[in-house]
Amino acid sequence: MSISVPFRKVKGVPFAFAAAVWYTVRMDWTDLLLQWYPGHHRDLPWRRTRDPYAVWISEIMLQQTRVAAVVPYYERFLEALPDVGALAAVSDDRLMRLWQGLGYYSRAKNLKKAAQAVCETYGGRIPGRYETLLTLPGIGGYTAGAIASIAFSERVPAVDGNVLRVMMRLQNDPSDIADPKVKTRVFDALKADMPEDAGTFNQAMMELGATVCVPNGQPRCGECPLASVCKARAAGTAGILPNKRAKKPRAIEEKTVFALYDHGAPLLLKRPDEGLLAGLYELPNVPGTLSDEQAAAWLSAQGLHPVGGLMRYSAKHVFTHVEWHMRVYAASVSGDGTQRFLRDDGTRSIPTAFSVCLPKDR
Ligand code: ADE
Repeated sequence: MSISVPFRKVKGVPFAFAAAVWYTVRMDWTDLLLQWYPGHHRDLPWRRTRDPYAVWISEIMLQQTRVAAVVPYYERFLEALPDVGALAAVSDDRLMRLWQGLGYYSRAKNLKKAAQAVCETYGGRIPGRYETLLTLPGIGGYTAGAIASIAFSERVPAVDGNVLRVMMRLQNDPSDIADPKVKTRVFDALKADMPEDAGTFNQAMMELGATVCVPNGQPRCGECPLASVCKARAAGTAGILPNKRAKKPRAIEEKTVFALYDHGAPLLLKRPDEGLLAGLYELPNVPGTLSDEQAAAWLSAQGLHPVGGLMRYSAKHVFTHVEWHMRVYAASVSGDGTQRFLRDDGTRSIPTAFSVCLPKDR
């Protein structure tokens, strides 16, 4: 995509003359973006390095999580596991503790699997080619593009939701961005226009989408380096683009969760190795919403006796495809039944979906 940009060269030239020589030079839109980026981007820790391992970790963390939430996790993770070898050898429990609170734990499991594959197949060196990166667990097109371009300077795009939005507006394109064909088209268009410094270009696109060409009808066109070439801006449609097919509403699952304490330690179980939150720890729970009587009967059937009262409150956790609406019963318990459970001794990672059920002032 090549766009003609009116460009006024006035510096050092008398004004009358300059006014007479308004002229148009062909300037690629990518140059406008690259000129804007150095003075406007946020100073984020992963932008201070081109180390493939660090770029990879940051991009996986950023897949589903906001920048501000990622920063402390990223720093702690790199300190604890500074290279691919350390990640490949880390215990699952330690890995889960480093990830605890970020959510989408399969990302961490895939990181470890990919690190093991890198050690076994590539002698511990992260492969530099986009196509090869795509073969590693947890690395899709966007992440492969980001790593290949930022860490290895391959001229390949990284197309995520931010980049799709910028491109739809730039072209005033009403296509549905949920359609995979649209993503492929955008990838091809960007590849054709990709400047030499692909890593900086991709980061500039992300930054523009995250800070200026923002979603929800609020683009800051007055601050945009591409405003002069943006077709949606010209047409007055920037606020209503991009178009996206409505998502299927999330399923709602009702659950009853037990926050049970034995001498102050919450009782836990380990989840099955397959499915949602596979292999992580959970608070005891049952499907559906139990009444006070049913909850008391459940405890009794487990051989657990509340010491003092049974407290009841609600909690909610939202996953990508499902929401858990939870009724929580909390109590200190005694009885033989406690032997069946594990204890939270501070080393076990409890996913947020369950930790939201524990009282804050515990
Ligand atoms: N979102 C995804 N990748 C990112 C990056 N490298 N910087 C900021 N936000 C991002």
